[in-house]
Amino acid sequence: MELLKVEGLKKSFGRTDVLMGIDFSLQKGEVLAIIGSSGSGKTTLLRCLNFLETPNEGKITVSGHAVYDSTDKKRKSAKEKRENQLKFGLVFQSFNLFPQYTVHKNITLAATLALKNTAKKEKMTGAQKAAALAEIEAKADRLLAQVGLSEKKESYPCQLSGGQCQRVAIARALALDPEILCFDEPTSALDPELTGEVLRAIKSLKGGDRTMVIVTHEMEFARNVADKVIFMADGVIEEVGTPEELFGAPKSPKLRAFLQKDKDI
Ligand SMILES: Nc1ncnc2c1ncn2[C@@H]1O[C@H](COP(=O)(O)OP(=O)(O)OP(=O)(O)O)[C@@H](O)[C@H]1O
Ligand SMILES: [Mg+2]
Repeated sequence: MELLKVEGLKKSFGRTDVLMGIDFSLQKGEVLAIIGSSGSGKTTLLRCLNFLETPNEGKITVSGHAVYDSTDKKRKSAKEKRENQLKFGLVFQSFNLFPQYTVHKNITLAATLALKNTAKKEKMTGAQKAAALAEIEAKADRLLAQVGLSEKKESYPCQLSGGQCQRVAIARALALDPEILCFDEPTSALDPELTGEVLRAIKSLKGGDRTMVIVTHEMEFARNVADKVIFMADGVIEEVGTPEELFGAPKSPKLRAFLQKDKDI
């Protein structure tokens, strides 16, 4: 069974139709790269998956459970909404770290707040809370080591390079164990010399059960890392296939023109 299934997803802003019926599915552990020219709807699609926009139509299913269904008019409880949101993690183009907190606190903040709620609801003892907190902190340490930033634990975002900030943002997204980790052009705000370290960090996450959706304009990276590539044009999926198919033998004239433009730059 697919981990993620998107069916007939549509989104308009006013009279502008941005997504005009998006359908795709992903298996657990698969990496999907989404490419396409500016304004084709890539960010809007990621924002719909992450509940930052509400689609107008369609259905999003994770592990057989509908997290969004436009035909279902029943209101979801706050708890259900929160659970659905936690299935997805998003790393933004512009990092969006909290400038007033250290690297370590940026990573532990969301989990610590969630723990406070749970502790109250489940009437956890002081010792249980301390153990859960220690686990959150230990996990942040592990994630920082994974993205190669252990020594920056107590630094503030303003003391880091853009590439380091983005690696912290990746560790922060992983701290909540999302089933599907999404990236929106994770290197486009970086100087070219910092791009490689972030792409390597993302590549190192591939494997096992980690399912990722990566919007990128780094064609070489998409080719190397993705199991499946979607080319979006004007709010629809113009072509989908393996990297070999899309980059090696593109069928759609729009995709061919897009890839040619990339080569010309
Ligand atoms: N909140 C909004 N209100 C109105 N229009 C919007 C909004 N968000 C996006 N759009 C429009 O939707 C279209 C698709 O935008 P989107 O950001 O999804 O494109 P994109 O493929 O991510 O482009 P880029 O490669 O430049 O990031 C654009 O025409 C944009 O102007
Ligand atoms: Mg975008």
